[in-house]
Amino acid sequence: MKATLITGASGGIGEAFAKRLAAEKHNLLLIARSENKLQLLCEELAAKHAVNVQYIAADLTKPDADKIIFEETEKRGLEIEWLINNAGIGSGGDFLEYDLKSIMEMMHLNMDAMVALTHRFLPQMRARKSGKIINVGSMAGFNPIPYMTVYAASKAFVQSFTQALHEENRLLNIQVMLLCPGATETNFFEAAKIGPDRKSSFSSKELETPEQVVASALKGIQKNKTIVVSGTQNKILRRILHFVPNSTALSLFGKQMRSQLNLKYL
Ligand SMILES: NC(=O)c1ccc[n+]([C@@H]2O[C@H](COP(=O)([O-])OP(=O)(O)OC[C@H]3O[C@@H](n4cnc5c(N)ncnc54)[C@H](OP(=O)(O)O)[C@@H]3O)[C@@H](O)[C@H]2O)c1
Repeated sequence: MKATLITGASGGIGEAFAKRLAAEKHNLLLIARSENKLQLLCEELAAKHAVNVQYIAADLTKPDADKIIFEETEKRGLEIEWLINNAGIGSGGDFLEYDLKSIMEMMHLNMDAMVALTHRFLPQMRARKSGKIINVGSMAGFNPIPYMTVYAASKAFVQSFTQALHEENRLLNIQVMLLCPGATETNFFEAAKIGPDRKSSFSSKELETPEQVVASALKGIQKNKTIVVSGTQNKILRRILHFVPNSTALSLFGKQMRSQLNLKYL
């Protein structure tokens, strides 16, 4: 049975992908750690849209998670047609505020899990000569960002990896697309233990909804885009940043983050 695999599907952008794609009649395989949330979502979507919705509760920071997920899809007879590498976690604060363990886990989740799942499922797509991979990056991937050091660097990795993979697979009828949301109304800020000052520094106009981000992504897929920046303000910001020297952008971001994070000790 053909299915779409979504990581980080228990909330936020991943859950919005699940709801939208179930309504478009995709069978789904949902991945996250929160088993209860996944189970409820599966029941809700299967009942509402008459599609097959399954889950695997897995921590993608664990080294063998991709193997377990892949083997489980084989056992269940699932052919992954769309792979949405969405699970990710952020950071916001001085580099040394985060312990090394949580930094390494962020790197495993944001980069390693995405690469590993792609490596597992791309061969089937190549064999079928069809497939779609959406990797969720971030506006933070376009520039180094002080006080989001490792997060921004991990999303720069996602960007580089995805663009190169797009070109490698373009002629094989496999679409690989980078989705770059800006600030979005999800649990992201709380999960990253970023202080409430940072989230409330965005006006409600600046925060997109997860549904808006997913709508941008699906439009991008239809138009065969390599990169989709979600939201008009984010698109404008990206254009402006194109013309700003790196050193100026760095010091502007540094200043803005110090003020948003209320870093008065510096
Ligand atoms: N929200 C924003 O402002 C924003 C902006 C730019 C980019 N993004 C990107 O968008 C993506 C989705 O984030 P979101 O905003 O939807 O955040 P979110 O609401 O915090 O959702 C994150 C999802 O990832 C899952 N997850 C976290 N750690 C995991 C782990 N170790 N193993 C498996 N699953 C894990 C979470 O589920 P469990 O806790 O159940 O595991 C949850 O389903 C991320 O890649 C993020 O970097 C977000």
